[in-house]
Amino acid sequence: MKGNIVLTPLCAGVALAQSCPDYSTYSQQRHAPFSSGRYQLSSMRPDPACRTFNSSDVEGLIARMESVIADPDLYRLFQNSYPNTLDTAIRWKGVAANNSAEELTFVITGDINAMWLRDSANQMQSYLPVLEASDSADSIASLYRGVINLQARYLLTSPFCNSFQAPAESGIAPATNGAAAGDSVTPPYSPDRVFECKYELDSLAAFLEVSANYYNGTGDVDFFGKFQWVSAIQAVLNVAKEMQTPTYGSDGRVLDSPYLFTRETTRATETFSNDELGNPVADGTGLIRSGFRPSDDSTIFQLFIPANMMFARYLEPTAEIMAKLGEKAPAGLADEMSALAKSLRRAIDAYGVVPLARTPGGAEGEMIYAYEVDGFGSAVIMDDANIPSLLAAPFFGYLDRSDPTYQRTRKRILDAESVNGNPYFMRGPVINSVGGPHVGPGAAWPMASIVRILTSDNDSEITRALREIVSSTDGYGLIHESVNTFDAGRWTRQWFSWANGLFGQMILDLQDRKPSILKQSFQGCKSSARRSVADLL
Ligand SMILES: *[C@@H]1O[C@H](CO)[C@@H](O)[C@H](O)[C@H]1NC(C)=O
Ligand SMILES: *[C@@H]1O[C@H](CO)[C@@H](O)[C@H](O)[C@H]1NC(C)=O
Ligand SMILES: *[C@@H]1O[C@H](CO)[C@@H](O)[C@H](O)[C@H]1NC(C)=O
Ligand SMILES: *[C@@H]1O[C@H](CO)[C@@H](O)[C@H](O)[C@H]1NC(C)=O
Repeated sequence: MKGNIVLTPLCAGVALAQSCPDYSTYSQQRHAPFSSGRYQLSSMRPDPACRTFNSSDVEGLIARMESVIADPDLYRLFQNSYPNTLDTAIRWKGVAANNSAEELTFVITGDINAMWLRDSANQMQSYLPVLEASDSADSIASLYRGVINLQARYLLTSPFCNSFQAPAESGIAPATNGAAAGDSVTPPYSPDRVFECKYELDSLAAFLEVSANYYNGTGDVDFFGKFQWVSAIQAVLNVAKEMQTPTYGSDGRVLDSPYLFTRETTRATETFSNDELGNPVADGTGLIRSGFRPSDDSTIFQLFIPANMMFARYLEPTAEIMAKLGEKAPAGLADEMSALAKSLRRAIDAYGVVPLARTPGGAEGEMIYAYEVDGFGSAVIMDDANIPSLLAAPFFGYLDRSDPTYQRTRKRILDAESVNGNPYFMRGPVINSVGGPHVGPGAAWPMASIVRILTSDNDSEITRALREIVSSTDGYGLIHESVNTFDAGRWTRQWFSWANGLFGQMILDLQDRKPSILKQSFQGCKSSARRSVADLL
């Protein structure tokens, strides 16, 4: 529901010039100069005085890419999108009230004035290519430290929640969340601290991800021993353990669920089945439950495979960090993290790989990853555009893209035509990509096209997906949340910073893996139906 929430006005206390336009509005208007290709993409970077963070490394990279990317529209899209988080979403940067060495960075998702654990970790990940060790407060390393410290504080405050208010130190007033106002949630939380309290396993994994990325880019292990990181990891592990609780005890009694949620809503995906409990999950799978998906939609079955994959994958490097902290970490904690990662991998293999229920002619089903399972034998066979998804499993490093189970799963996810296809693969003349229930049928997500490119070695598949992205921004030159597959003028979210950064990250990945693709023209192919629809733009 992110796109439908009414925002409180941006608050006082921001260091931007008085005349800076609100980017929510700015990103809904097209601005000259336009790119010189047929799509005439707008210039969407705010005026330098209005940008929320300056990085000379990122500016240098954007300038260098002009000679790497041949197509003028593709370059404009990169130029607008890659710096979007730095340009628009670093809402506040400062230090903790009780410790001036503890940096804090409040990164908003874009068009909502709140910080998501998932979005902010991934917004930072876009800048991993320019991350290097630095003590300077003007560095990308400092931004990362600030995000990790603030996420640690959030997790110690309300570890079941997914998005949070600005820290008190910023002086920014809490944003109002009308949609969540009537929520009934256990454990309870304070709306002064928390924007929304949907329990999502991938939000916990996001904290591990941003930590692993910072360590990988800087080698700075000391940082993790200085503030509240170790305690935050313990809070994460406690939630993970509690959320292995099944629905029924061995005598059949309904157990207390550590997390309960219910909302008054007209959308099935915004609340739980069985009042506040969710659908039953079986005992003994070893998987961790997730109340919601990374779309912030509720899961159908709480044993949500992509988040279990992501959590297992990022426990591995964070266990290494923990081990390196030596005396500063409780004895046995690193080993506990490694053991949990291993047991999750075993549980995913045992319960998350299922035979396709229907195969033409009744042939025996092939084994693929399920999106969700309940442990009783039911599975949801689909994929959703948000990350973590099944499609993204090699992108977040859970497995190699050559993995045969992944390849079989991928074939289904990117197929809507066969009886075994993905019910949320969206087709049409404008863009063909995975969508999801969050925006609904007919809306393809460019984010899933980006993930398709990041996980493909097939030049024609990559080129086609990239051409569709470049041709479907409705002239704005930004990555929207979703695009109607029959009408590029109908899209959602004008300001979705994570998706923009991810697009830039993908272009930098292509520069390494497939530079010749960035030398191609993306001006459209003359004979396709796509062309005629794009001409209407
Ligand atoms: C970024 O640099 C511009 C000058 O190019 C300056 O006006 C602006 O205040 C800087 N922004 C921040 C957040 O430091
Ligand atoms: C700062 O406050 C937090 C609680 O908000 C506390 O956990 C932490 O230990 C404090 N740090 C110092 C250096 O006092
Ligand atoms: C760290 O970076 C290397 C490549 O530089 C990569 O192979 C490895 O997977 C990364 N580790 C993590 C935890 O991201
Ligand atoms: C590469 O992708 C194209 C377009 O999606 C597809 O037709 C072709 O079969 C793929 N090739 C391989 C080897 O998978």
